[in-house]
Amino acid sequence: MKSHPMLTPTLYVCCLFFLLSYLTIATSTPLYNPIENIVVNCGSPGSLKGNDDRDWIGDKGSKFAPTEEPNHKSKTSKAQSQVSVEIVPYMTARLSYWQFTYVFPVTPGPKFVLLYFYSTVYSGFESSKDFFTVKAGSFTLLRNFSASIYTDSFDRKDIYKEFCINVDENQKLNLTFIPFTSTSMNYHAFINGIEIVSMPMDLYYKPQDVIKGEEFVPVFIGQPNPFYIDYSMALEMVYRLNAGGSAIQVQDDTGMSRKWSEDRDYMLSGGFVPRNPSLKPKYTKIPNYTAPDAVYQSAISMGPDRTKNMQSNLTWGLLVDAGFNYLVRLHFCEIESEIHASGMREFYIYIDYQLAEERADVLLWTDDNDTPYYKDYVVMIKNKGNDTHLLSIDLHSRSDAELIDAILNGVEVFKLSDSENNLARANIAAPFLDQQPAGAAKESMSKKTTIFIAIGSVLGLLVVLTLVCCMVLCKLKKTKHNGSYHPLPKWWWWSRPDPYRREFSRRRASSLPGELCRYFRLEEIKTTTNNFNEDLIIGEGGFGNVYKGLIEQGNKMVAIKRMKQESRQGALEFMTEIKMLSQLQSCAPCVSHWIL
Ligand SMILES: *[C@@H]1O[C@H](CO)[C@@H](O)[C@H](O)[C@H]1NC(C)=O
Ligand SMILES: *[C@@H]1O[C@H](CO)[C@@H](O)[C@H](O)[C@H]1NC(C)=O
Ligand SMILES: *[C@@H]1O[C@H](CO)[C@@H](O)[C@H](O)[C@H]1NC(C)=O
Ligand SMILES: *[C@@H]1O[C@H](CO)[C@@H](O)[C@H](O)[C@H]1NC(C)=O
Ligand SMILES: *[C@@H]1O[C@H](CO)[C@@H](O)[C@H](O)[C@H]1NC(C)=O
Repeated sequence: MKSHPMLTPTLYVCCLFFLLSYLTIATSTPLYNPIENIVVNCGSPGSLKGNDDRDWIGDKGSKFAPTEEPNHKSKTSKAQSQVSVEIVPYMTARLSYWQFTYVFPVTPGPKFVLLYFYSTVYSGFESSKDFFTVKAGSFTLLRNFSASIYTDSFDRKDIYKEFCINVDENQKLNLTFIPFTSTSMNYHAFINGIEIVSMPMDLYYKPQDVIKGEEFVPVFIGQPNPFYIDYSMALEMVYRLNAGGSAIQVQDDTGMSRKWSEDRDYMLSGGFVPRNPSLKPKYTKIPNYTAPDAVYQSAISMGPDRTKNMQSNLTWGLLVDAGFNYLVRLHFCEIESEIHASGMREFYIYIDYQLAEERADVLLWTDDNDTPYYKDYVVMIKNKGNDTHLLSIDLHSRSDAELIDAILNGVEVFKLSDSENNLARANIAAPFLDQQPAGAAKESMSKKTTIFIAIGSVLGLLVVLTLVCCMVLCKLKKTKHNGSYHPLPKWWWWSRPDPYRREFSRRRASSLPGELCRYFRLEEIKTTTNNFNEDLIIGEGGFGNVYKGLIEQGNKMVAIKRMKQESRQGALEFMTEIKMLSQLQSCAPCVSHWIL
């Protein structure tokens, strides 16, 4: 059996140093240098450095001040509460009861446009009366939007919205904020921060006339012809996930300051996580700025159990607004050296329950291991009466492949503007609003969760350090893998610890209701695993075993991960994590808790 390395504090420090120096090297040279990289701190004078190391320029008295009608001036204000948000750009805002426009003289070409909102109290404005439309030139980015209603369904009040907009020759990029007008009520519009970053011409736009390789034209699912993404369209980023990996901060993107999130909140099935943090991806098929290396260094796969794999899918569920076309980009990279020929790992890809790819074979696409690739699909999500829809991505192994397995490294999902240049959802109802748990229940739960998170964070931090050290040690020790099927250190995908919790709750994380999560008592776990009986082991991770168990509540099968952990006093402790093995469709994939 693998034993957990006993690590002393000194070693931890060494490892941290190791990691930090590695990170510094990794972030020094961007692969893409955007012509424009403008970050505006609305409602603030001067310039301030943000956590992202960029200089945010205040719009007060600068060239970025908005234009407005002389007798309808906007106001600037400090946020009254600053609980757990970054100072820049959330500390200050520009607010108005009247329309105001930011005009950005930029070079022609496609741009990322990000809008940052912090929903809180600003003096002179009622916090729940924000209700407005945001337009960029002829595009409607947001309509009947209320940051306060929108953030009600999240556990945080700072949000951002990311768009892609092409700016034509001799055009300016205008962003107009228009408060909703009503005779009985005063509504206002507001904004905390604006970011504009140029992007490569061919990153997400795939127009018919410019396109080089036909292989990168999006497949239009269920339609005979491909879907060209023209420069006359606007896109809204709705998900950008690093499958099997951790969140990636803006500084660690390829130069475009994109933020990548963990995928674990959206994964509805179990999965194994092959990871190779030392892998140097070979960008022979796609540009090296497509995604950061970290996206390709980790993946989700099915694991070695052929029988189980044949009967299951790898499934991600992503809540989207109905009534739009969506661009779904899937990132692939064959990182397991044992899989070295096309035909070994072949699988079907279903998007929204429709066949998107009949024979996905990463090595057939790339000719080589460690070679990143992506595939684009466009899927039409009709509005059939519900404003939101759970967009499903299913991977299922082909039975005629050598191995019964599938792999995915990353996912990006973009909403595409409709024929009226609109990206805003049709109805006033705020997203996810109806999923709010009752206030009282929520409060009593949140106390418990705080304690759990607090304990979890401390232990989690230890696990992170251990993990890093393990990886470093493994890397130093192992020069060559033996011929086993899964040669890389592997662990269950949900086993990453809590300190990252804030990161993945950043966007849409709580789209799944919290009540579905359940806590387990240790006795319960001991009973179901027959006191951690070896017969019930279904997997081994880098630092613990995974047991199979059955819990009541509809006889659900669960996986129980038990981690050995040395306490400060030198005693051996166990931590246990639980995950449902099979999920009902659109049920929360969130049963994962620390038990002491
Ligand atoms: C942007 O705003 C400026 C100034 O308000 C105006 O002159 C210009 O026509 C606008 N451009 C677009 C494309 O809307
Ligand atoms: C990224 O790709 C560009 C264009 O192919 C190349 O010039 C550049 O050297 C590459 N950068 C790195 C760090 O590999
Ligand atoms: C896998 O997903 C597809 C498409 O959603 C579905 O038709 C199929 O029944 C799923 N298979 C399993 C075993 O869940
Ligand atoms: C809309 O969604 C709700 C909850 O997800 C579901 O119960 C209902 O059947 C859906 N209605 C339609 C028309 O799809
Ligand atoms: C915007 O909100 C107003 C007021 O509630 C409503 O009358 C209107 O229909 C909404 N528009 C859209 C497109 O949802």
